[in-house]
Amino acid sequence: MTTHIIDGKIIAAELRARVADEVSRVKREYNLVPGLAVVLVGNDPASEVYVRNKHTQTQTAGMASFEYKLPTDVSQAELLALIAKLNRDPVVHGILVQLPLPVGLNTESVINAIDPAKDVDGLHPNNAGRLAGGFSALSPCTPLGCIMLTKTVHPSLEGMNAIVIGRSNLVGRPLVQLLLNENATVTIAHSRSRDLPKLVKRADLVYAAVGKPEMVRGTWLKPGATVIDVGINRILEEHGKTRLVGDVAYSEALQVAGAITPVPGGVGQMTVACLLVNTLYAACAIAALPKPTVQVFADEVNFGPHRGAR
Ligand code: GUN
Repeated sequence: MTTHIIDGKIIAAELRARVADEVSRVKREYNLVPGLAVVLVGNDPASEVYVRNKHTQTQTAGMASFEYKLPTDVSQAELLALIAKLNRDPVVHGILVQLPLPVGLNTESVINAIDPAKDVDGLHPNNAGRLAGGFSALSPCTPLGCIMLTKTVHPSLEGMNAIVIGRSNLVGRPLVQLLLNENATVTIAHSRSRDLPKLVKRADLVYAAVGKPEMVRGTWLKPGATVIDVGINRILEEHGKTRLVGDVAYSEALQVAGAITPVPGGVGQMTVACLLVNTLYAACAIAALPKPTVQVFADEVNFGPHRGAR
């Protein structure tokens, strides 16, 4: 059996190209330029790389990109004042505050301050609650990317056994809701779950989002399972070099899985591409324009706030 390697690089590039096409159409037909504001507080090196990527890819897609870099010691009030300004700004359709915030800032109240219509991270309780209720919502980008990658292998997830390992607000919890919307049967596992290998063994779809290097072993997997590895862990090698690894022991899993995402080159590529999709959808919803179509598969992934309740 040869394992299919899901190429996030190619799929993300295809998605970005579709977004760019739709952005140019929306510009031509409605004179609307979607705009994304990204706020970075402090100088965490990993966050700086992510924010730079977002800026470049937003511009390449033909959208307006606004970057705000604030010092580590910015006050909560100053950060909230910036968000209030962006909420009012008509050329800004998406607002993303890069996480984690430096200690001393209250993440929850910062997220709560973002206009839910501009919350392209899908983290505002209004969007998180709508997603959990099965209503239309802006949904978090990494989980959307996970669903898209899965659909390159399985166009329909109906009735499949999925396990999500990890229950963060950014990935695990929203991913569970998106899988439910796709009619999968979902198990949520976390640090207190008993006998994780046994739970994983039942799963046709395995989503590892715990941030523990190579925690999921090849022997845990059901033969032929599809494995989506959300982890990005930098580990120190013998000679002082560092290497990126996922939450799944890749070379072991390769012997058992039917399909697997590599790290790097898997899920990581999809997050920014999905952020661009969310920004385009938010811009059209705010301007009361028809829902755009960024269709990569016959069965479209449910992006954006336009989706009706079901
Ligand atoms: N930090 C790591 N991933 C993300 C993300 O998707 N959104 C935000 N806001 N911060 C992050």
